[in-house]
Amino acid sequence: MIQGFSKLSKAEKISLLKKLEQISESTEQVFQQFEYSPSVQNKLDSLVENTLTNYPLPFSVAPNFLINGKEYTVPMVIEESSVVAAASHAAKFWYSHGGFHCKLIGETRIGQIHFLWKGTFDQLDKLKSEIEKKLLLSVTDLTQRMITRGGGIGKFMLIDFSNQIPDYYQLRIEFFTADAMGANFINSCLERMARELEYFFNSQFENELQQCEIIMAILSNYTPDSAVECWVECPIDSLEPLSEKLGAKKFAEKFKTAVDIAKIDIYRAVTHNKGIYNGIDAVVLATGNDFRAVEACGHAFASAGENYKSLSDCAISNNQFRLSVKIPLAVGTVGGLTRVHPLATAALELLGNPSAAQLMQIAVAAGLANHFSAVRSLITHGIQKGHMKMHLTNILMHLNANELETKLAFEFFQHKEISFRTVEQFLNQIRNNEKQ
Ligand code: MEV
Repeated sequence: MIQGFSKLSKAEKISLLKKLEQISESTEQVFQQFEYSPSVQNKLDSLVENTLTNYPLPFSVAPNFLINGKEYTVPMVIEESSVVAAASHAAKFWYSHGGFHCKLIGETRIGQIHFLWKGTFDQLDKLKSEIEKKLLLSVTDLTQRMITRGGGIGKFMLIDFSNQIPDYYQLRIEFFTADAMGANFINSCLERMARELEYFFNSQFENELQQCEIIMAILSNYTPDSAVECWVECPIDSLEPLSEKLGAKKFAEKFKTAVDIAKIDIYRAVTHNKGIYNGIDAVVLATGNDFRAVEACGHAFASAGENYKSLSDCAISNNQFRLSVKIPLAVGTVGGLTRVHPLATAALELLGNPSAAQLMQIAVAAGLANHFSAVRSLITHGIQKGHMKMHLTNILMHLNANELETKLAFEFFQHKEISFRTVEQFLNQIRNNEKQ
């Protein structure tokens, strides 16, 4: 076992890993290639422990997003080829068809205090308003600033889980965190309130009811009431340019069937929703937000009914095509990584330094854009065509193809299967021909 690894300097860590033969000399050089200038590097190194280097992802933009009548160039950080192209393509199409319409459903965050107590739920319920007052009072120094920014603490709910886990009750508390994602604020309030709750029982009772065992106090990443509804709509005929050989009417119908399939079949629904998160995650990551929280929340929301299902809905009526999503998410535009990571700051600047509510809508619009493009490809020419173009570019780059070789390869592979081996063979052939 390696002892005291985190105490070593970066150079010492790398040298130890080399000594242990876990990395080679050339890997050390790769690490060095990805090291930035000290002013940036120091910021990145301070984010997490044990950094050896950086792991960069492309920072791209998808222009021409018209969202509630306002134009955006949307920053996207993602490794998957064709996601940005797909988002840009959909944004461009919808730009001239009314753009993306977004409605904010709410911004309520949830915090939980989980505790064990020997009393009955009725006893607890009678004390609820007193507990609430005491708990709120215990965090006034923390909430004061948040209240001036338009946030604060909302409703307290007391939940009886004692029939499932003996003595287990839960305080579920609403939080409003203005433009912050708010995790630090919520968790600080909850931990303080949990101590106050313990103290309350201790001072209120004399027997076994004196003891309240706090199991944990933590925010919930499930935020169904912090959500955005987003939709695009147009007359069916307007879909003609996208419909390839299908024709607009058949295209719209096939699109709706594809969405309906994701409402009844979990195997399709997960992939379908993943296509939505291609866009959402890319924006969430670019703006320094927590994509794991956003994804976890969305997938839980997708399974809130009888079965896990599509987060999107497609409707056709009166010759109108409408595709919509309702996505719960909690993101911030102040605090956290948004001001620490220079590229998160740049991404927010690109978006005109939006409020958290605006960023939620932009991220969801990007999700809908990617989803639209994905299903459009699936029901027409399939997704491999677009993917393979990017795949070919990546292979050619890997094989150091020059401009002419790249041009020839694109012509040659237009209607052919692309694999690393076939592209390599093709390049070898033209390189050998040149030599002769
Ligand atoms: C690939 O990243 C995303 C898709 O699989 C989404 C979908 O199937 O709807 C194309």
